[in-house]
Amino acid sequence: MRTIKLLSTLVFFTATIILQSNGFSQTYGQNGMVVSDNTAASKIGTAILKKGGNAIDAAVATAFALAVTHPQAGNIGGGGFLVFMDASGKATTIDFREKAPLLSSSTMFLDSTGALINGSNHQGLKSVGVPGTVAGLYLSHQKYGSLPWKDLVQPAIDLAENGVVLSWTLAAHAQQIKSGSGPKFLKNYYNNSNGEVAKFGELWVQKELANTLKLIRDHGKDGFYKGEVAKEIAAFMKANGGIITLEDLNKYEALEREAIKGTYKEYEIFAMPPPSSGGVAVIEMLNIMEQANLDSIKFNSTEYVHLLAETMRRAFADRAEHLGDPDFNLDMPLNKLTSKDFAKMRYENIDLNTASVSDSSKFGQIYDGKSTTHFSIIDKNGNAVSLTFTLEQSYGSGIGSPDLGFIFNNEMGDFNPQPGYTNSGWLIGTNPNIIQPEKRMLSSMSPTIVAKNGKPYLIIGSPGGRTIINTVFQTILNVIEYDMPIDKAIEGMKIHHQWMPDRLVFENDLMSPDTQRVLEQMGHVLQGRGNLGRLMGILCPSESNVYIGASDSSSPDGGAIGY
Ligand code: DON
Repeated sequence: MRTIKLLSTLVFFTATIILQSNGFSQTYGQNGMVVSDNTAASKIGTAILKKGGNAIDAAVATAFALAVTHPQAGNIGGGGFLVFMDASGKATTIDFREKAPLLSSSTMFLDSTGALINGSNHQGLKSVGVPGTVAGLYLSHQKYGSLPWKDLVQPAIDLAENGVVLSWTLAAHAQQIKSGSGPKFLKNYYNNSNGEVAKFGELWVQKELANTLKLIRDHGKDGFYKGEVAKEIAAFMKANGGIITLEDLNKYEALEREAIKGTYKEYEIFAMPPPSSGGVAVIEMLNIMEQANLDSIKFNSTEYVHLLAETMRRAFADRAEHLGDPDFNLDMPLNKLTSKDFAKMRYENIDLNTASVSDSSKFGQIYDGKSTTHFSIIDKNGNAVSLTFTLEQSYGSGIGSPDLGFIFNNEMGDFNPQPGYTNSGWLIGTNPNIIQPEKRMLSSMSPTIVAKNGKPYLIIGSPGGRTIINTVFQTILNVIEYDMPIDKAIEGMKIHHQWMPDRLVFENDLMSPDTQRVLEQMGHVLQGRGNLGRLMGILCPSESNVYIGASDSSSPDGGAIGY
């Protein structure tokens, strides 16, 4: 309620206003908003909105800008997902997930005894999936953009050519690379104009990347998947032990897929279908929570955390068992997994006083990080974009062609690497996500749009590997059930459970020792850690025409820019 009152007094302002509430910050805009992991990229997206571009135009420009300013995750060598809801309430998605190369196989990361060669699925050029980002942005623009393509790529070219001012974060990365860890293959990566490693505040120019972007500006998708860029990718792969060929690049297509839909009370949820597991899992978990009476369950109480953990445990078991690339798994029970009846069954089997035990003969992987990036956008007409993209790990494979100036992903690591072998640690061997040529690897990225009365209400997403699903799920509950302003919802206590390993992961500073003790008595195995998620969200309260944005305080360079 407090938020609404604040809003009514602010409705006349058209400039961006940043307010501190709860120690965090919210940004207000009346005509549009971009929230991303990098303030310079958010500014570029907002400038496109001001020029009359729609949310898709701004998304294309923001994504290309992030490929320059946030190279640990923003990319043209990786892939991702875009959820779009237009002002009339129609939602759709664009899948630009990487694909396994034609020369890949289900045993490519195994030794002669059939065991996984430790780390091999994340290392070297064989870990690179056929990139999808340029195709995805191009398809989004072809279908739903309004400004000329070249106007959306140009700001990123300008940034790469004129130089990015190195933030503390990037300066620290530059030092790591100098000291031998990090990407070694990009000639002069993070060098300043004197050829030394750039320091905080210095300009970092990326000439080769600018040239690659110019070809994309001038030739669209073909500028990447055909012609000289594609030829150089294929030649670089061949010369250095990679398996991606010109044919892989020529064949790559981004796909428009129907959004996966659910409801939570009076809200509609539009999210990413497989090959992301995010939408199915978020909707399944919201459905399970709908069975409980949250009015009588306090936020952050033992009861609440237990219910969340048990809900997550079940959804992640279902994820491991059933989900993979829909083009290779034609019989995934998506309707069942997202149905209210199924959620009722799952809820009824939760013991409200005792932790279940995850079956160690099945399922599990714990992995997260901050090396994916999410942004949320809304334009003046109410069109909304929720986009998450990634190189998989920070700086992906760490390898790139010096002539092209960008880094390849290591997304092959998201496949189940050892067919048939699931253990209680991190390996899953279930069938739907086994490597096959041209298959897309299962993802946890969960760009989501929650709608109310047919209009976008909450645009949200996060990096964090499998924790993405759970942090997005909890942020939605924080807003809808616990009436939190967007910044508080983003920063509020989060937990993570993913079936196997059987651990309840919590944020050290945000759960009281008493709650921890009770949860342990209930049978949970607790694991404390730093913060979960790096959420970028926009709330669009129906009572006003003001958009409220917030970028997670864990994003050092992130920013919400409204106007
Ligand atoms: O698609 C996925 O689920 C992962 N490749 C995302 C990786 C990730 O989020 C890493 N760090 N934040």
